[in-house]
Amino acid sequence: MRKRIIAGNWKMYKTSIEAADFADKIKDRIKTSEHVEAVICPPAIYLGDLMQRFETSAVKVGAQTMHDTDEGAFTGEVSPAMLEDLGVQYVIIGHSERRQYFNETDETVNKKVHAAFQHHLVPMICVGETLEQRESMETVSVVSEQVEKAFADLSADLAKQAVIAYEPIWAIGTGKTATAEDANEVCGAIRHKIETIYSKDVADAVRIQYGGSVKPENIEELLSKEHIDGALVGGASLDPEAFIKLAEAGTHVE
Ligand code: PGA
Repeated sequence: MRKRIIAGNWKMYKTSIEAADFADKIKDRIKTSEHVEAVICPPAIYLGDLMQRFETSAVKVGAQTMHDTDEGAFTGEVSPAMLEDLGVQYVIIGHSERRQYFNETDETVNKKVHAAFQHHLVPMICVGETLEQRESMETVSVVSEQVEKAFADLSADLAKQAVIAYEPIWAIGTGKTATAEDANEVCGAIRHKIETIYSKDVADAVRIQYGGSVKPENIEELLSKEHIDGALVGGASLDPEAFIKLAEAGTHVE
C-alpha cells in the first residue's frame, strides 16, 4: 500500500505568532503511522521555526517553492541547498499560482524536480487544468503533458519517490471540488502516464494527491478512491483542528 500524504499549503498566510501557535497545537496530536504522513508547508520565513517546533513530532515540513540552483544573485529566492540545510523534507513545485503569477513553466518545474532530488527533498509536483481546458475535454492531455515535462530525464528510482498533486485550477480556493470519481479518473490517467514513461512498478509506487477545496467533510470520500493517495490542502489547512481531522482521515479510510 502506498503511504498516504496529507499536506497543508499555507500559501501567504499567518503571522509568526499564528504559525507558532498552530504548530504547538498540532505537534503532539498528529500520530506517526506507517500508512500516512502529515506535512505542513508554511511561508519560507517560518520554515526554521517550524522545523524546531516539529522536531519531536510526526509532522514533517515542506517549502512552497524554491529556486533550481544552489546559490547565486537571485534576490528574494530560496535555494534547495538552504532547504536541505534546514532539514526540510518536501517542496511543492509548480503550484498553479506559481505558474500563473511567477512565471513557473514546465521547463522550470523540471529543473526544480531534479534540483530537489539532488538535495534530498521530495517534490510534490502540481499539475492541473483550467476550467476552459476541462470544458473542452482537454484535462487528460493537459495533465499528461505537464507530467511528461516535469519528469523529463528523471531516473525511475527517483521518479518512484516523487509525489504528484493533481489540482484542477478551477477547484482551488473556490469551494468547488472535483467529484471524487472525476478526481480519481484523472489521478488514474496520471498513473497511467507514469507507467508509459517508466513501468508499472514506478506507477504503482508514485503517490498522487488531489488538491482543490479539500476539507474534513470531503476528504474521506476522496481518499477512498483507488488512485488518490493523499491531499494537498490550502484553506482548510490553516485551522489546526481541521488539519488534525484531515490527517486523521488518512489513517481511517481503507
Ligand atoms: P484550497 O487550495 O484547498 O484552498 O483549494 C489548494 C491548493 O492550492 O493547494
